[in-house]
Amino acid sequence: MPENKVNDFAAFHPLGAPGSGVGVPQAVRPGHNTRGPRWLECPLMGTPEGAPYPKELERDVVLKDGTRVRLRPIRPDDAPRLQALYDRLSRYTAYQRFFTVMKRLPPDWARFLATVDYRRRLALIVEFETVSGFDLIAVGRYEPTDEPDTAEVAFVVQDGWQGKGLGTLLFQEVLRAATARGVRRFRAWVLAENRRMLDLIARFGTVKERKTEQGVAELLFEPRAR
Ligand SMILES: CC(C)(COP(=O)(O)OP(=O)(O)OC[C@H]1O[C@@H](n2cnc3c(N)ncnc32)[C@H](O)[C@@H]1OP(=O)(O)O)[C@@H](O)C(=O)NCCC(=O)NCCS
Repeated sequence: MPENKVNDFAAFHPLGAPGSGVGVPQAVRPGHNTRGPRWLECPLMGTPEGAPYPKELERDVVLKDGTRVRLRPIRPDDAPRLQALYDRLSRYTAYQRFFTVMKRLPPDWARFLATVDYRRRLALIVEFETVSGFDLIAVGRYEPTDEPDTAEVAFVVQDGWQGKGLGTLLFQEVLRAATARGVRRFRAWVLAENRRMLDLIARFGTVKERKTEQGVAELLFEPRAR
């Protein structure tokens, strides 16, 4: 991470809004905590050294329309494909995910998002084989917060792939992976108008707290036993 960016926590917060402070957890808003979130200070954060690559989370999935896709944990070499996915997102989808629209996903941000420790930070991706290789079409992730046993989650599915069950799949798999690694509660920052995401949370979680500020709903939820 470039030195001059280290204190620009909103710009580097993987789930929040670069520069806007909206949708960024309280602890990482610029000016709120000038030392930044704890996970940026932890030497294991952002490195793949935390735990071995969890190969057991890899599997093929057949969607309800019959399409076969591959679910797997993210790897550092996925960074360029995260950028390519961002380039394919509509402005609306990008905005729903990042609360801002950037021309491109900055390369150092993509590297950071692709490099997790598979324990406190984990992302699952969905890829689809094309004639020219594998397209990354969806990502779900959790990131640590300042609160014990609590992680923040975020999801994005490429527009043309939405409505095929990928959001539901990633939501369940991310929660399952997090729970297996000791996470008990989840936070999500979601545009208050984002019915689809709010419905997903309500379907698979028990909402413990909810507040809305500047059109962004902040939810604290626990996975519902199913
Ligand atoms: C929210 C999001 C991740 C859901 O992913 P998805 O792949 O569309 O989700 P699913 O296909 O599993 O559908 C979930 C529900 O949304 C609804 N839905 C999905 N696509 C829809 C569409 N095109 N029109 C209307 N409803 C739709 C369905 O009701 C579905 O429920 P069902 O299982 O009863 O049919 C995806 O829409 C997305 O990437 N949005 C932009 C980014 C975002 O909002 N991220 C959340 C911030 S954390």
